[in-house]
Amino acid sequence: MSLESAFTQDQISVIFVLGGPGAGKGTQCAKLVKDYGFVHLSAGDLLRAEQDREGSEFGSLIKNYIKEGLIVPQEITIQLLKNAILENYEKGSTKYLVDGFPRKMDQAITFEQVIVKAKFVLFFDCSETVMLERLLERGKSSGRIDDNIESIKKRFKTFIDTSMPVIEYFNEQSRVVKINCETSVDEVYEQVQSALKDRLDL
Ligand code: C5P
Ligand code: MG
Repeated sequence: MSLESAFTQDQISVIFVLGGPGAGKGTQCAKLVKDYGFVHLSAGDLLRAEQDREGSEFGSLIKNYIKEGLIVPQEITIQLLKNAILENYEKGSTKYLVDGFPRKMDQAITFEQVIVKAKFVLFFDCSETVMLERLLERGKSSGRIDDNIESIKKRFKTFIDTSMPVIEYFNEQSRVVKINCETSVDEVYEQVQSALKDRLDL
């Protein structure tokens, strides 16, 4: 792996979007795409697409990790993100929301080494009670193999044990904007917009 990053911070802007499962990351990202023209790259969505891609050598591995709420080995996820960014960059896109990533310390370090340093982290803070309620509701129609109580418990544990240290790492560098997610979609969005204005002058 080359030590030089693929992009400079002048070429593209990346915002990491983090928060527990069901915190509302996807919902807020969809609004930002519409209003600001970001490209939304959900690591989970990219993994599910790779899992379903005919001929993928990683299909069953990804499926098992997702069902167990575990973090897929970083090489796979980073390659998917890198391909997606390159593809969109060739079409002229320069602003990216990288959603549900980095979920583990190695992903954070490697992404910033090989792709680009992120501008900042949007952290959607939400209690497990509220997230559980949302995930069970979503599970009625999502068709996701991990929106069931057994998988959800495992995902919460992974979030606390593996992903919170990533948020702490960025927080120590003053790169985290914490958003309270337990209010309405519109109220959450106001906080998000104000973060973009402060941090990126958008
Ligand atoms: O973000 P989302 O809830 O869609 O992620 C679903 C699952 O995909 C996670 O529980 C995890 O198994 C996997 N994932 C991962 N690494 C990431 C993002 C998601 O392994 N950075
Ligand atoms: Mg999502």
